[in-house]
Amino acid sequence: MRTPWIAGVSGASGTPYAKAVLTGLLDAGEAVDLVISKAARLTLLDETGASVRDAHWKDDVAGWLGRDLGSADLTYWPAGDIAAGPSSGSYPAKGMVVVPASTASCAGIAIGLSKDLLQRAAEVNLKERRRTVIVPRETPVTRSHLEHLIALHDAGAVVLPASPGFYGAGSDATAQQLVDFVAGKVLDALGVQHDLFKRWRGVLGSGSSA
Ligand SMILES: Cc1cc2nc3c(=O)[nH]c(=O)nc-3n(C[C@H](O)[C@H](O)[C@H](O)COP(=O)(O)O)c2cc1C
Repeated sequence: MRTPWIAGVSGASGTPYAKAVLTGLLDAGEAVDLVISKAARLTLLDETGASVRDAHWKDDVAGWLGRDLGSADLTYWPAGDIAAGPSSGSYPAKGMVVVPASTASCAGIAIGLSKDLLQRAAEVNLKERRRTVIVPRETPVTRSHLEHLIALHDAGAVVLPASPGFYGAGSDATAQQLVDFVAGKVLDALGVQHDLFKRWRGVLGSGSSA
């Protein structure tokens, strides 16, 4: 049975994080169901020049990701299709990632608003106790933003802020290395193998093995 990861892209800045996570999942041979919110179309256009139209999603997503989707196990669901497969707990899924996650989507998921398929699918994954990773991107934050993240944490989500570390790549880190750091942490949280960053092995010489 096909059991995909559901990947939700909401309208926060940070579409390169979404691209890196999707690329990592597809490179690992994972099946992916993609949902792009209405607002995320604006951030995508603003940050990458890519437009994703429901009727032309295959060409548009291939253009955005810069890869041929011929052999990829990728399904696309329009965000307005509230009756789509991922809107039900009986739809098979390994779990879900929302990357990047806007404060609006975090709030909607936290309170069960289900204003679109992305929010409904995330709520479903939480109620089914499936792995759900939320990658918020906003700064600074209000008390209500923090309260929604606590509610998501308490509902079982891994809250993984888009907060890249500089170790490994060093002070000359490129933007892509910083993006890959966050994407790699997302894939770690999903339990998907990747080679997106150099893992910390301790300060040279401080470890010893038999
Ligand atoms: C260019 C652009 C950048 C944005 N960046 C952010 C952001 O970093 N974080 C955030 O929470 N919202 C951001 N927003 C606002 C959200 O897009 C807006 O709250 C929207 O309603 C979110 O809808 P969604 O959660 O359904 O995608 C941005 C909007 C635009 C147009």
